[in-house]
Amino acid sequence: MPSKNDDGGWKKFMWNSETGELLGRTGGSWFKILLFYVIFYGCLAGIFIGTIQAMLLTLSNYKPTWQDRVAPPGLSHTPKSDKTEMSYNPDEFETYLPYTKALREFLSKYDEEAQMDPMKFEDCGEEPADYKNRGELESDMGVRKACRFSRTVLGPCSGLDDREFGFKEGKPCVIVKLNRIVNFRPRPPSSNDTIPEDAQHKVQPNVIPLFCTNKREEDAGKIGEIKYYGIGGGFPMQYYPYYGKLLHSHYLQPLVALQFTNLTRNTELRIECKVFGDNIDYSEKDRYQGRFDIKFQINTS
Ligand SMILES: *[C@@H]1O[C@H](CO)[C@@H](O)[C@H](O)[C@H]1NC(C)=O
Ligand SMILES: *[C@@H]1O[C@H](CO)[C@@H](O)[C@H](O)[C@H]1NC(C)=O
Repeated sequence: MPSKNDDGGWKKFMWNSETGELLGRTGGSWFKILLFYVIFYGCLAGIFIGTIQAMLLTLSNYKPTWQDRVAPPGLSHTPKSDKTEMSYNPDEFETYLPYTKALREFLSKYDEEAQMDPMKFEDCGEEPADYKNRGELESDMGVRKACRFSRTVLGPCSGLDDREFGFKEGKPCVIVKLNRIVNFRPRPPSSNDTIPEDAQHKVQPNVIPLFCTNKREEDAGKIGEIKYYGIGGGFPMQYYPYYGKLLHSHYLQPLVALQFTNLTRNTELRIECKVFGDNIDYSEKDRYQGRFDIKFQINTS
């Protein structure tokens, strides 16, 4: 049972008005303790902020830091559809409307009017040429110009003369691009060894060739002629390297248009397209790395 005295002692310990002690300590000693903790946590915060700052200094605004092994680029196509299956009837407008609409939307970025500004764009020629060097990523040159890419290069697949991209005549177009990778310089094939015989004639300097063929044995001879439109029939080197979103915000990827001129009707056909280059390879896991395949079916009523 606490006595009156004990109670008074406890209170005195909490606050002793005679000596000015709080919890048995003087104001001065409390101040020292407080000072110690302020300095202690101040130093901790300083070390923390310093470390983060040092980390940030090593990061570049322009180049992904952890891109130690440049992933080979993906190959993508427009129009795209669910399950990569395209099926339509040339006599029924609504069956191909989603495809031609996707093509029109995609190509609007490549309209001539959008590429007028000479501060943002320059001509890089309509023949394949070497890489277009626009200085080091880290240099203070600022925003780089982009090469113009004219839709006219895509011939009947440009959408300029034929708003239906051949779908109406049963000769549909597909537009292919190589996905962007900062500072990547695709290297054209240096030999014919790894390239299918039918694609070897497409090998030339300064172009990454694109080649499509039947994916399945049983479709051999049913695909018909595929026409390729684009600079050098592939992806020309003067559009590389890409300097990234900040420095190359107007960049336009070079495009290749495929036109399937004689697909066998009423049959599902599987077509595989691939790009070839010394630093382009394919992955079992990623169906879009350096290649893609589409199912095509043109129905007749
Ligand atoms: C590949 O083959 C084509 C035709 O067969 C030929 O024109 C071309 O020069 C060859 N390229 C190389 C790098 O051997
Ligand atoms: C289209 O393909 C068929 C065989 O599937 C062939 O008989 C015909 O000659 C081809 N037409 C053209 C214009 O190549």
